[in-house]
Amino acid sequence: MNKVNPNYALMPGSYLFAEVSRRVSAFQAAHPEKKILKLGIGDVTRPLPKVCIEALHKATDEMADPATFQGYPPAQGYDFLINAIKEYEYDARGAKVEADEIFISDGAKSDTANIQELFSGDAVVAVPDPVYPVYVDSNAMSGRAGIYENERWSKLVYLPCVAENGFMPEPPKEKVDLIYLCFPNNPTGAMLTRDQLKVWVDYARENGCLLLYDAAYRQYITREDAPRSIYEIEGAREVAVEFCSFSKTAGFTGVRCSWTVVPKSLKVQDAAGNPVSLNDMWSRRQSTKYNGTAYIIQRAAAAIYTPEGQKQVRENVGYYMENAKIIRETLVELGVEASGGVDAPYIWLKCPKGMDSWSFFDYLLSGAGVVGTPGAGFGPSGEGYFRLTAFGSREVTLEATQRIRELLGK
Ligand code: MLT
Repeated sequence: MNKVNPNYALMPGSYLFAEVSRRVSAFQAAHPEKKILKLGIGDVTRPLPKVCIEALHKATDEMADPATFQGYPPAQGYDFLINAIKEYEYDARGAKVEADEIFISDGAKSDTANIQELFSGDAVVAVPDPVYPVYVDSNAMSGRAGIYENERWSKLVYLPCVAENGFMPEPPKEKVDLIYLCFPNNPTGAMLTRDQLKVWVDYARENGCLLLYDAAYRQYITREDAPRSIYEIEGAREVAVEFCSFSKTAGFTGVRCSWTVVPKSLKVQDAAGNPVSLNDMWSRRQSTKYNGTAYIIQRAAAAIYTPEGQKQVRENVGYYMENAKIIRETLVELGVEASGGVDAPYIWLKCPKGMDSWSFFDYLLSGAGVVGTPGAGFGPSGEGYFRLTAFGSREVTLEATQRIRELLGK
């Protein structure tokens, strides 16, 4: 009999969004007549920008011609996309990132899950709480999180993000090796300023730890004093990896394209304490385990880096942010404590009537046919909270908020 990775047996339940989906399917099967409105998983509903569709058609035709056909993509990604990312996402903001520090991939989810493989099994990991569950689960699968008891992993260092600190994590008091950060934040929708991010960069430099910075929602930032990239902050190149995605920007959740920046100036240590380049390690990992994002997809992604492409992306983002406003204002009107939705497409609310997260999930689903995501699924400090996404269509958002109004306004 083959022996399996024992850490999987320690994992509680299923992946958060799989569990939500399972419960919704069970409810729909029991109530086939009910129209369910989904504001749970942050999945986009707007079609791809027109520039991306045109690029997809053109690239598909290229694949039909022996003269332009493309086989395996370059391991790190095509230059046309890497250079466009460098110019539009970094050079334009005065953030120093070199082309050979950008790795194209198929999703920030995969990269944030895979990066932990590069670190030793006894690395101490800190996560904001609540947090995108992929960071926690991927470390737990590798045995780095310890044992799951009373809704907590024994070896993880939790950084509570609660109403009292404005849902903003504070640097750990104990020594940690890796710190995951996500801004604009999923799930709370919180965003920090450049000065606040500088505190983290300085902390990482002073304490010899590495920041794993997920900026997948950066396009949603509206505040002027907020960083779009961690490399806008002085000193970040020595202590931070950044993950970005086309999913929420250009609607690529079903198409899959992202990038990760691993600066060459970022050094980690081997077992003997010698400096090692994390860029070399990530390159080795990706070229061994990943065969690259398809040519046609990289062409579609690159299409957003033109004035017209940027305009179309802004229109999609603006559409979702109008949804966010509708949801937030409805909740505030109803006297529900709600935040987020200003620099992020998520609204984080305190469950009314003192309900816990999963009870409110059931209450909202059975009473209004509206699906959201229970805050408890994002970590212990998420208990009693709930997340709604702005990624629905306008029709669904309006109908859902109307039903919420009827249910909670009673
Ligand atoms: C979410 O709902 O948190 C995200 O859509 C999940 C993801 O991006 O993988």
